[in-house]
Amino acid sequence: MPVLRHRLTVFFSLKAPSCSGLQVVGEHAPYPIRSYVLRPGRITAGQAQALEKYWGKYGIEFSQDLLDLDLVFNRSAPRILEIGAGMGEVSMALAKKHPENDYLAIEVHRAGIGSLIRQAASAELGNIRVICHDVVEILKQQIPDRSLDEVYIFFPDPWPKKRHHKRRLISPELVTLLCRKLKCHARLFIATDWQDLAEHVLDVCDSVPGLINLAGQGHYAPRANWRPLTKFEQRGRKLGHQVWDFAYGLAPDTDRLLAAQTRE
Ligand SMILES: C[S@@+](CC[C@H](N)C(=O)[O-])C[C@H]1O[C@@H](n2cnc3c(N)ncnc32)[C@H](O)[C@@H]1O
Repeated sequence: MPVLRHRLTVFFSLKAPSCSGLQVVGEHAPYPIRSYVLRPGRITAGQAQALEKYWGKYGIEFSQDLLDLDLVFNRSAPRILEIGAGMGEVSMALAKKHPENDYLAIEVHRAGIGSLIRQAASAELGNIRVICHDVVEILKQQIPDRSLDEVYIFFPDPWPKKRHHKRRLISPELVTLLCRKLKCHARLFIATDWQDLAEHVLDVCDSVPGLINLAGQGHYAPRANWRPLTKFEQRGRKLGHQVWDFAYGLAPDTDRLLAAQTRE
């Protein structure tokens, strides 16, 4: 049994990343379906160095405790969450442009986090932090309700095969969870270059009580002119991909609508 026990521990530890490597996931935890696959080993020396040198300044460990975001950023300011930040281009560009806002970037891949914090350090930014973990667990455990002014999910993995659709990040559960985390008058912005995913996002977000499609029910939004063009989007556009944007706001009576949904 000890050998099997060890193997299980390693298996579950690999599935839930922690940049510092300090986190150990319980070996008896049920294994949820994840919206990503970790590819260990793909990290450059520069990214690894940045993680080592600047994690203390920019990184937040995943934990079971709610964060005090005013303490994390050392001030009170509008809070923007980017989910699946990739190499961090969006959060970096916006954090540079808007020193009045605070940006929290979430990404499971250490390479992307390393790249982001290397850029943040060289630009001497103080308004950006990162967490290297699954966003679903971060939202459940660490992000206080009604604490976010904006949330961005740009180009989530499309998981195009039908048997993989269950892995798609945007689901009624995730969007309902986000509704609890957004402040009143907050905004949720999404973009994708995958038509089938665009239709799925529209279906999901238009059906969650409490969310209002700012482009009108059943409609895509115009491209937000402030949304930085990432390499990922550029590559897609060169290949002729169309891009679909989404903009949602919270209904004034979101709490009541969500509570009614829970009772049904
Ligand atoms: C296709 S990439 C897009 C990256 C970036 N947003 C861009 O536009 O360039 C999607 C990213 O979402 C991340 N991701 C997927 N599921 C995630 C999750 N549950 N928690 C955190 N990040 C996730 C992936 O690791 C990947 O880097």
